[in-house]
Amino acid sequence: MSRRVLAVLGSAVLALSMAACSGEGAGSGGKDGDKPADLTIGVSMPTQTSERWIADGNSVKEKLEAKGYKVDLQYAGDDIPTQSQQVDQMITRGANVLIIAAIDGTALSGQLQAAADAKIPVIAYDRLIRDSPNVDFYVSFDNYKVGVAQATALLVGLGVQNKDGSKGDAKGPFNIELFAGSLDDNNAHFFFDGAMDTLKPFIEDGTLKVKSGQTKIEQVAILRWQQEAAQKRMEDLLTSSYNDGTKVHGVLSPYDGLSRGIITALQNAGYGGSGEMPVVTGQDAEIASVKLINDGVQNSTIFKDTRLLAEQAVVAGEAFLQGKTPEANDTETYNNGVKVVPSYLLPVQTVYKDEIKPILIDSGYFTAEEVAAGQAKG
Ligand code: GAL
Repeated sequence: MSRRVLAVLGSAVLALSMAACSGEGAGSGGKDGDKPADLTIGVSMPTQTSERWIADGNSVKEKLEAKGYKVDLQYAGDDIPTQSQQVDQMITRGANVLIIAAIDGTALSGQLQAAADAKIPVIAYDRLIRDSPNVDFYVSFDNYKVGVAQATALLVGLGVQNKDGSKGDAKGPFNIELFAGSLDDNNAHFFFDGAMDTLKPFIEDGTLKVKSGQTKIEQVAILRWQQEAAQKRMEDLLTSSYNDGTKVHGVLSPYDGLSRGIITALQNAGYGGSGEMPVVTGQDAEIASVKLINDGVQNSTIFKDTRLLAEQAVVAGEAFLQGKTPEANDTETYNNGVKVVPSYLLPVQTVYKDEIKPILIDSGYFTAEEVAAGQAKG
């Protein structure tokens, strides 16, 4: 709380001093006659511990540089004060547009006010920035549908439902456990809502049983989406709810990094190998998890093509630089607490083992060798 107040105060001071000394503002978008080489786009990414954000950052940078723009790309090590400081610096160094994937969707209000005062358009990248009027555009996927797709994959993996949506042969009851992402990430709520709306009828009719009884997002969330924290929670669940010999049959996981932590806990407890592996879902098609899916260890992932997301961020950024309004395809869903942020949302695809080749390899996202090795060549 006090850290947040301090951050806001700090940014207010910055905004005032910028207004006092630079008049027009450090960035103030593009001006007529500006060449791409005169324009800088600040790109603020949350962390390098997850390969998806590295791929996102690189894609955005490469695509902007190919058009001749300058790019100021920073990673914040999942530390909120670091991200605030990096965005402050981008503003003072003269960024003309900001593209931000926030760690905490509410922690950047001060920076965004400074950006607005300097007339720098702000694009929220994949994660909505909340509680600020100074977010101009949002590029992401349909995050509610991601949650629906994850829950559907769990149902398909258990045999309760078929891939085509028809009723499966399995009757249950199946023991499942639920995981959610970081509560300060707006997406975590959309994923969980989509998943729970899908699972609820099966929980209510007794087909699925959450044996731990932990079904609220506050009980199942993993701060900063950390793999180790997910492993620890799964270990605790196995000790507290499955020490009577009953088995867990499925785990709803909203992100591949968490899935790998969950899988490690399950394997350490004797699942897999000769015994059966519970159905574990995922998201992001991270290469290490795609290998696990290929090897029959993880059930599925939800593929969000970061190449397309980066492309949309570039299209939106360029529109702002040319003084235009980027084209939105959704102007209703993403209310950030202050306003509905115009959005461009991309579709998602579920990848089970059979879809690795047609969706991930044939599109050039990964090579067959990378999938076999569980490592991207970069
Ligand atoms: C979310 C994002 C997911 C996943 C997660 C952890 O905001 O939408 O795709 O990457 O963060 O990094």
